[in-house]
Amino acid sequence: MKKLLIATLLGLTAASAQVQAKTLLVYYSFTGNIEKAAVAVKDQTSTDVIQIQPAQKGLNYAANNYSLGSDLVDQIRSKPNDPSSYPAIDPVDVDFSKYDTVIIGTPLWWSNMAAPMQTFLFHNGKAIAGKKIGLIVSSASSGISGVERDARRLIPEGNFTKSLWIRSSQFSSAPKVVAEWLKANGLASK
Ligand SMILES: Cc1cc2nc3c(=O)[nH]c(=O)nc-3n(C[C@H](O)[C@H](O)[C@H](O)COP(=O)(O)O)c2cc1C
Repeated sequence: MKKLLIATLLGLTAASAQVQAKTLLVYYSFTGNIEKAAVAVKDQTSTDVIQIQPAQKGLNYAANNYSLGSDLVDQIRSKPNDPSSYPAIDPVDVDFSKYDTVIIGTPLWWSNMAAPMQTFLFHNGKAIAGKKIGLIVSSASSGISGVERDARRLIPEGNFTKSLWIRSSQFSSAPKVVAEWLKANGLASK
């Protein structure tokens, strides 16, 4: 009887752990490409979603050959440990303890992670340390190793899966490549 009770309790604990294991998708998108990947993730998994928004509205990061966006990234590169290097974003209220997996979607800016996503991770990277992290990165053509380095710097204890790189010309097939990536990396499925 005692054994049965313990087995039942263990079974219940395992079942509730499975129910509680949740995925959070955090993304930033300036021109809408990563947003398409985020929609594909949302359609194919049961994730909660947070969109990062810069506090200062209406800025054109791509004007003059990406000059504003590149200046923001440069500022972070030169002083990565200084909070004032990071552009302000709208407040994000999230209880990270609810999630065991975090998918991060971000564009590449000047070989680095887009500055607003760096701001989010600068403030929250420690709260998602130890979790399974999937990185979705978009660029026009540049390779994404600099973005992966930023992610590892900002989430020091992250348990990273293989990243998904989607070039801006490939977004018509975003649902397919996202589905393949989610499956190959054991990320959340419905
Ligand atoms: C400020 C800025 C800098 C960029 N720098 C690069 C770059 O160095 N190499 C590259 O291949 N693409 C670069 N891009 C292009 C974006 O990474 C690409 O268009 C991406 O798909 C945009 O994603 P989004 O639509 O979600 O913002 C840059 C875009 C911006 C706005």
